[in-house]
Amino acid sequence: MSQHPDPATDLIGLGKRYWLPVYRPRDVVLDHGKGSRVWDTEGRDYIDLGAGIAVNALGHQDEDLVTALVTQAGKLWHSSNVFYTEPPLRLAEELVQASGFAERVFLCNSGAEANEAAIKMVRKWAASEGRPADKRVIITFRGSFHGRTLATVTATAQPKYHEGYEPLPAGFRYLDFNDEAALAEAFAPGDVAAVLVEPVQGEGGVMPAAPGFLKKVRELCDAHGALVVLDEIQCGMGRTGTLFAHVQDGITPDIVTLAKALGAGFPIGAMLAGPKVAAVMQFGAHGTTFGGNPMAAAVARVALAKLSSPAVLLNVERQANDLRTALATLNHELNLFEEVRGRGLMIGAVLASPWKGKAGDILDACAAHGLLLLQAGPDVLRFVPPLTITDAELKVGMERLTDALREVVGGQSNNSDPATVDPVSAAGSAQPHAKAS
Ligand SMILES: Cc1ncc(COP(=O)(O)O)c(C=O)c1O
Repeated sequence: MSQHPDPATDLIGLGKRYWLPVYRPRDVVLDHGKGSRVWDTEGRDYIDLGAGIAVNALGHQDEDLVTALVTQAGKLWHSSNVFYTEPPLRLAEELVQASGFAERVFLCNSGAEANEAAIKMVRKWAASEGRPADKRVIITFRGSFHGRTLATVTATAQPKYHEGYEPLPAGFRYLDFNDEAALAEAFAPGDVAAVLVEPVQGEGGVMPAAPGFLKKVRELCDAHGALVVLDEIQCGMGRTGTLFAHVQDGITPDIVTLAKALGAGFPIGAMLAGPKVAAVMQFGAHGTTFGGNPMAAAVARVALAKLSSPAVLLNVERQANDLRTALATLNHELNLFEEVRGRGLMIGAVLASPWKGKAGDILDACAAHGLLLLQAGPDVLRFVPPLTITDAELKVGMERLTDALREVVGGQSNNSDPATVDPVSAAGSAQPHAKAS
């Protein structure tokens, strides 16, 4: 053992000393990546089944993305929206064409900003219809996540994100997700302007809309003169096997928000507005200094083209099947999951008792075995790998997951069947895996 703290420990110390402590990263300093593999500053490699948080949809160092970014970086970085540049103009046209419903696009820098724009759009639309402020209610669902600005965190119907930030903006109504009866009832006061919903809830536990639920949302919104706003920030851009997740629900939305995979790792967000709302916001109604940044837009154009391609979308389907099969095999051995759910490469494995609440410990073990994985709450392991993950990368990832889970089970359960637990990998505590040779 070295007597001096290693450079990674020094770097982590900087984070602990200087960052606002709102995050709790694992003690790994990542350095570079290629495909669905990343390396830390110590030279250890990891299979990436988290893609940031469902962001690096084309993996790491995709050559076309790098070329787009470097080319634009060598031309012009920024003009704000007081002058035009080509990439955000082209991107807006391409997003409208790809969407099949939108007429106009507002470009911004993050998911929260895209949803903030959508919330403002709903309010502006309701105002333009002559509805008073108390008749501009937006329905959202428990388990949702829409961002961290004051309006989007209020839209996020999870009390833990609200605590201490009161007073919160008014005009949101929370319902149970997938509860059609409650939804119908919530329209009764005649004050609903919109329903804001994720086709697959991400942070809330990887929970897809039940079959027919979004159709019911559309039907009720039409009946009561309200808008359908879909937050596809996590589930959009090919992740569920179609470019837009809602295509699988057979509905046409009024507004869709995108971010995360839209820039495949470069920050960008977008709000897509359909015909009912596209003309509502006029000059001065909204804006952002950085939104539509030419470098972000140049990257997003390439990401959009690649993530729409049959090659990527077919890979989503194929790898999702393989991932589910591997999880089923693993579960047959270890009996860890009570349910595996999701759509495409957005999969949640729900921990069974007595492993409930242990997702964080499992992720620690995964990192120690060379696997980057996410949780969605304390009870759900969340698999959102790059959509370009290869057979070989997924195979190694699942082997590492198996080792990590055997260790967790072997270390914490007194009644593991020794015949099914590998005694070597089950022994000892989580140690960082060996450096790549
Ligand atoms: C569905 C959804 N909406 C909105 C957001 C907020 O996006 P951002 O963190 O880019 O502001 C997230 C982030 O996790 C998300 O998953």
